[in-house]
Amino acid sequence: MTATKVMTHPSETPAPTGTMKALVYGGPGKKTLEDRPRPTLLKPTDAVVKVAKTTICGTDLHILKGDVPSCEPGRILGHEGVGVVESVGTAVTEFNPGDRVLISCITSCAKCAACKKGMYSHCSDGGWILGHLIDGTQAEYVRIPHADTSLHPIPPGSDEEALVMLSDILPTGYECGVLNGKVEPGATVAIVGAGPVGLAALLTAQFYSPAQIIVIDVDDNRLATAKRLGATVVVNNVDGKAAESVMQITGGRGVDTAIEAVGVPATFGVCEAIVAAGGTLANIGVHGKKVDLHLERLWSHNIALTTRLVDTVTTPLLLRTVEAKKIDPKLLITHHFRHADTLEAYDTFGRAAATKALKVIVDI
Ligand SMILES: NC(=O)c1ccc[n+]([C@@H]2O[C@H](COP(=O)([O-])OP(=O)(O)OC[C@H]3O[C@@H](n4cnc5c(N)ncnc54)[C@H](O)[C@@H]3O)[C@@H](O)[C@H]2O)c1
Ligand SMILES: [Zn+2]
Ligand SMILES: [Zn+2]
Repeated sequence: MTATKVMTHPSETPAPTGTMKALVYGGPGKKTLEDRPRPTLLKPTDAVVKVAKTTICGTDLHILKGDVPSCEPGRILGHEGVGVVESVGTAVTEFNPGDRVLISCITSCAKCAACKKGMYSHCSDGGWILGHLIDGTQAEYVRIPHADTSLHPIPPGSDEEALVMLSDILPTGYECGVLNGKVEPGATVAIVGAGPVGLAALLTAQFYSPAQIIVIDVDDNRLATAKRLGATVVVNNVDGKAAESVMQITGGRGVDTAIEAVGVPATFGVCEAIVAAGGTLANIGVHGKKVDLHLERLWSHNIALTTRLVDTVTTPLLLRTVEAKKIDPKLLITHHFRHADTLEAYDTFGRAAATKALKVIVDI
């Protein structure tokens, strides 16, 4: 995609030196804010970005619980954020030091077979590596491989805080939930789970004017937020009877699109029970346990079941919708912390039911 572009900086810009503060995973249940060497350029396609704002993802909490063994102790966490390019490798043609950028949670080379299919999440030299297999964004500086295709320029005058939501949760809700779920004008949609990802699906589902969006959670505060953000009906599933309620609400028909945004067998079961004949069950949740698929009932229902790891292939499109004020992802931000208080930010985010946290911004 950049083959004809003239290189604007023939020599490698010197990488930053010295140390920086970073949130480091120390093994299950352990995290510290400690001094680490600043990252340097390792490949000509790398950039080093000075992070301005980052956030914490439910996935970071999964890592801290020990659910992601591929993330090893010593790793700097974080796969979301905005910042300023500090230095670039000789092969980077799209960015220069000083450029303000949005960091994608998915690294993509844009050249491999998966990337050419738009499946950046399965890039043979990328995918979800940031804050997982390589050091991440909850630090003063981060090295971004394949910078040309893994960073996005921030349009001048943008609200950068809102754009932090575009590193991961907005493309996740949109790609895995709304696009895979084939949300259409006039359709009936159910979103199970009103966390940041379910709410991102709620915001972006409205691009398509569905007639009804039913949001299901067990947390009344999150359901109230869903109502503010456009849910037509909310259902509290604390009694485990959400499926019955949705069938009642839809006159026994069920929903055209059932979006699973929790990641546990019970909520997948709700989606299976409520998807209408001809409908789509779009799974977003990260599942750690096996779930039952009731083909003895669903085989004849003409349904589709989709799964997806976010590709962030829609980030440029979502950037334009935010610029045009079609959606306001800032509505998902509930708390702000200084970098020195990152551990407190984790505590607040980790106790979301008590603190009413959705997304927390950490200013670096
Ligand atoms: N597919 C992907 O690429 C991708 C990317 C990012 C996140 N995810 C996954 O998406 C899921 C949602 O992420 P999140 O950050 O919004 O998580 P979250 O934990 O903040 O939200 C989950 C919500 O589900 C609700 N819930 C729990 N049990 C419930 C039940 N029985 N019935 C109804 N609601 C229930 C919780 O109250 C909570 O509000 C997670 O599994 C996450 O790992 C997937
Ligand atoms: Zn994430
Ligand atoms: Zn690739």
